[in-house]
Amino acid sequence: GRIRRYKWEVKYEYKSPDCYKKLSITINGRTPGPTILAQQGDTVIVELKNSLLTENVAIHWHGIRQIGTPWFDGTEGVTQCPILPGDTFVYQFVVDRAGTYLYHAHYGMQREAGLYGSIRVSLPDGESEPFAYDYDRSILLTDWYHKSAYEQATGLSSIPFVWVGEPQSILIQGRGRFDCSLPTIESGLCNATNPECSPYVLTVVPGKTYRLRIGSLTALSALSFEIEGHNMTIVEADGHNVEPVVVKNLFIYSGETYSVLITADQDPRRNYWASAKIVSRNGNTSNGLAIFNYYPNNPRRPPPTVPPTGPTWNDSASRLAQSQAINAHAGYVVPAPRTSDRVIVLLNTQNRINGYVRWSVNNVSFHLPHTPYLIALKENLKHVFEQTPPPNGYDFANYDIYNIAKNVNATSSNSIYRLQFNTTVDIILQNANTMNPNNSETHPWHLHGHDFWVLGYGTGKFDIYNDPKKYNLVNPIMKNTVAVQPYSWTALRFRADNPGVWAFHCHIESHFHMGMGVVFEEGIDKVGKLPTSIMGCGDTKRFLRP
Ligand code: C2O
Ligand code: CU
Repeated sequence: GRIRRYKWEVKYEYKSPDCYKKLSITINGRTPGPTILAQQGDTVIVELKNSLLTENVAIHWHGIRQIGTPWFDGTEGVTQCPILPGDTFVYQFVVDRAGTYLYHAHYGMQREAGLYGSIRVSLPDGESEPFAYDYDRSILLTDWYHKSAYEQATGLSSIPFVWVGEPQSILIQGRGRFDCSLPTIESGLCNATNPECSPYVLTVVPGKTYRLRIGSLTALSALSFEIEGHNMTIVEADGHNVEPVVVKNLFIYSGETYSVLITADQDPRRNYWASAKIVSRNGNTSNGLAIFNYYPNNPRRPPPTVPPTGPTWNDSASRLAQSQAINAHAGYVVPAPRTSDRVIVLLNTQNRINGYVRWSVNNVSFHLPHTPYLIALKENLKHVFEQTPPPNGYDFANYDIYNIAKNVNATSSNSIYRLQFNTTVDIILQNANTMNPNNSETHPWHLHGHDFWVLGYGTGKFDIYNDPKKYNLVNPIMKNTVAVQPYSWTALRFRADNPGVWAFHCHIESHFHMGMGVVFEEGIDKVGKLPTSIMGCGDTKRFLRP
């Protein structure tokens, strides 16, 4: 493979992605940052200079498994110390599989300040996908808040609790539109004519087919994306080819990527709306809009129709149906092991700890240690995190997932699951009621360092005896992010074959911040020599002394 070298400077700048001026974190002056373009087998080198002045940073390469380089996963507290202001850190890793991936900040709640982008890995020369298209485009979907990540993080860990609320805007490739005419806006902060917030334009040539790589890095929102009057054919999910599925709208959760094929086969004399709408939460955020522009029409000419309204926000059945309709492409099935060596059930709950609102897994709310696990485990520093393993399940017989827990209190821990190397592990994500009556939320879970097979989804409480009989072992898709729907379960399986320490967490920024995550270790003895560049914090300072 070739070397793809990037030099990035990360800093704060005023940006107006939705016409409202806000301090944003940029890479080389942009948010979203530059798209990383590489070919399967290439080595990507990102030389990152932290110019945030008073703030640490770390960047995670979402969907890249980091085989042989677990120390460059970019997860602060798990695989590395944060990069200090003024420092330069060099990430170097191989992109070993073609597909659509993402990158984003993985320190505090920094991601939602705009520090993210797309990764596109193409096939080696001479190989082709099992589908045809004329052009390849990437777009990133995000939601946008006007409050700083600091203000939000502080609110989430305060008494009384201050929820982040619904986002102010939905951005399509970094562009959205906030209503600047609202009387509450301080003058000069919002400018509807700022070119930074003119809608994103995707120009297409009539008759041609486009591969649109869509990634979501929303802080909170689940989205439905559609292009007015056009069907989309889903052909790739999280870097894996799937059997084509034709949809009118694509449901996409934070941390997921999809490739869809779109043919510009409608009336070429006009433009069309592309729209991203929030689903699964009943908010009042306006839909994100972009322009699907038929060449040679004026790209700024608004479509003559009203934008599509999209599906109803609470129709979780059709979201589940879309997930279930997506199977591995017949020519690309990676056979899943028939059985597993270990089953871990993760009950997702909202809890209280000493009056603070938290999210938990099996009633344990996660927090990061000051000494990253990878270094602690490799160097055998036992005192830097709790050694008692977290629970393998919850009280199946007595826990009522449909109601507020009898005892909502949880404990907080930074202990981890240690997996036996080269074993097969099943994870059952079990959703439940939150601390509000008749409320259960959607959580997209992302696994670092692996892809997993999605074996099945179901509503209600997972039945450990009967539900596994219904698993799809014929053509399950492989993914790195999967959602668990309200009052439902999702079953996944993976091979613990990548030496390192890997986070598995809800990709909703505030939920992870509030404890909704776990960490897996496997094959730590097989991890090579750690670079000293990841050290310097907590108890790792000792390794830097001469
Ligand atoms: Cu894209 Cu740990 O996340
Ligand atoms: Cu969540």
